[in-house]
Amino acid sequence: MATLLKINSSLFGENGNSSQLSQEFVQRWKALNPTGEVILRDFAKETIPHLDATRVQALFTPEADRTTEQQAVVDYSDKIIAEIQAADVIVIGVPLYNFGVPSTLKAYFDHIARAGVTFKYTETGPVGLLNDKPVYIIAARGGVHQGLPSDTQSQFLTNFLSFVGLKDVRFIYAEGLNMGQKDQAFSAAKAAISEEVAA
Ligand SMILES: Cc1cc2nc3c(=O)[nH]c(=O)nc-3n(C[C@H](O)[C@H](O)[C@H](O)COP(=O)(O)O)c2cc1C
Repeated sequence: MATLLKINSSLFGENGNSSQLSQEFVQRWKALNPTGEVILRDFAKETIPHLDATRVQALFTPEADRTTEQQAVVDYSDKIIAEIQAADVIVIGVPLYNFGVPSTLKAYFDHIARAGVTFKYTETGPVGLLNDKPVYIIAARGGVHQGLPSDTQSQFLTNFLSFVGLKDVRFIYAEGLNMGQKDQAFSAAKAAISEEVAA
């Protein structure tokens, strides 16, 4: 059975522009995969803990030496990594907030980057260990940034995801949403989604 992992990182949960467009993707995907499973992570509903010294130490401690609290930290990281590993396709709704990704999404990534689990260093450089699969980024922005120096977000997402082995990253942009261009931006993004999720 095919599995789609949908990640909402908008402050506004399902009401966010990025989440609404991601949902459009999910609906089209479901039409093509009626028995497929959709797994939702919504960072407006669940708290993603920030990485701190206690948590990072837990991740570095060998299994045999971990306390119960440290094991719980590792279990959380293992769980979200397993979810990504099991998915056939991933859709991430990503708003642009203050020139970056939402801090919740960064916190989530911080639990996924694990030496020996999702990446390793070799003599020729880092190698990502997650199975490659398409990752769709539905990027919602108030202004227009695509291809400009102000769009540090797209490069960051490409860098991070490829570092852990997810090299097939595809961007769909909805820009100018706070510039009176929302209808056009939504239409263009929906057209791009329908092209990507075609029978
Ligand atoms: C806290 C906050 C910060 C924002 N920062 C930016 C920004 O740096 N650049 C920009 O173009 N739009 C910015 N916006 C506008 C959002 O990118 C736009 O509203 C987008 O639709 C948000 O996606 P969402 O509705 O899925 O949350 C910001 C909005 C908020 C709420």
